[in-house]
Amino acid sequence: MTARPVRMAVVPGDGIGREVVAEVIRLAEALRSAGSLLASWDELDWGADRFLATGRALPPDGFQRLRAFDAILAGAFGDPRVPDAEYMREILFGMRVELDLYINLRPVRCIDERLNPLKHVRASDIDLVIVRENTEGLYCGAGGLVRPNSVHEMALQEMVVTRRCVERIVRAAFEVASTRPRRKVTLVDKGNALRFAGEVWQNTFRQVAVEFPEVMTEHLYADVAAMEMVRDPARFDVIVTENLLGDLLSDLAAMLGGGLGLAASGNINPGQVSMFEPVHGSAPDIAGRGRACPLAAFGAFALLLRHVHRGDLAGVLEAAIGDVVRAGTVTPDLGGTSTTAEVGTAVRERTLERLAA
Ligand SMILES: NC(=O)c1ccc[n+]([C@@H]2O[C@H](COP(=O)([O-])OP(=O)(O)OC[C@H]3O[C@@H](n4cnc5c(N)ncnc54)[C@H](O)[C@@H]3O)[C@@H](O)[C@H]2O)c1
Repeated sequence: MTARPVRMAVVPGDGIGREVVAEVIRLAEALRSAGSLLASWDELDWGADRFLATGRALPPDGFQRLRAFDAILAGAFGDPRVPDAEYMREILFGMRVELDLYINLRPVRCIDERLNPLKHVRASDIDLVIVRENTEGLYCGAGGLVRPNSVHEMALQEMVVTRRCVERIVRAAFEVASTRPRRKVTLVDKGNALRFAGEVWQNTFRQVAVEFPEVMTEHLYADVAAMEMVRDPARFDVIVTENLLGDLLSDLAAMLGGGLGLAASGNINPGQVSMFEPVHGSAPDIAGRGRACPLAAFGAFALLLRHVHRGDLAGVLEAAIGDVVRAGTVTPDLGGTSTTAEVGTAVRERTLERLAA
């Protein structure tokens, strides 16, 4: 156990974000009461309600305040009352940029055969981690519209690839791979069409690989990688890739793991405050009806626990999630009839049982 309490900022956000985060907080409270987790947390009301009331989704010094925490647990953002998604971008992209959360980590495991969407592989063949560059590439925001609203309208959307950012994400991927049994990193790019970016990625990948002789390497173009993830997911262990390609591939991978109800992600700056969230959005279609699956939020909490050096507790929680899924205590999106609160209670009880065993 860490010597001082883990300090968490909790930003439940909108819609089902609040419902699933509430279940995680119940678990954190139970772990704290049981003496298994030394932690404190502040809940921040960033999101649509605040935006509608004040015109700002977060306070002016919001990102500055986040630096005082060890980790951030976020729910989801998005509200039909606010058609312009700018306030969401302000929160989510703001955190990534202001806190330099350069690693987008998306582990995917298929924990039960019933959730496996592929008939030709076993659930156990689906166990991979996508390490996505989270700060530049095509999402860096460089570009502009030339002669807008005319027949000559032209958009320029620039892809920025710097050696510094590529090197740090590639190194992060090798570090992740060296902690996993299969120790393999696949570089995915589109260097056949995007030649200059491809050169930086491939050269850097080769250079960093030398530091990790125990890790196997391979290189695939993104179109082939997408095909292979469906044809033979077992060939993948850790995938490192550019921002846009990682965005696309990680959603494909999420479906291999059982879908949005289970997909969790970390936005990480090693050793610094980092943010953990379920991949799904605020799901207005099911919000307030007790139908949201909280397992992705629990998965995000497990990633958070690893970040604050509580890998022991993260492992117990992940095992408890597996038990609950295998017992069939799941929400309708995963083929069950349980409510959000019932799944939350099951995960909490199972985690405490495993800790007591
Ligand atoms: N990180 C984020 O905060 C984030 C991510 C994606 C979308 N959004 C926002 O969320 C809002 C809704 O977007 P969307 O509908 O495209 O995506 P969504 O992820 O909210 O929902 C997509 C579909 O999956 C279902 N779903 C999602 N999470 C679920 C869960 N935990 N349990 C059960 N079912 C679940 C929903 O009911 C819906 O049918 C929009 O405002 C969008 O901009 C936010």
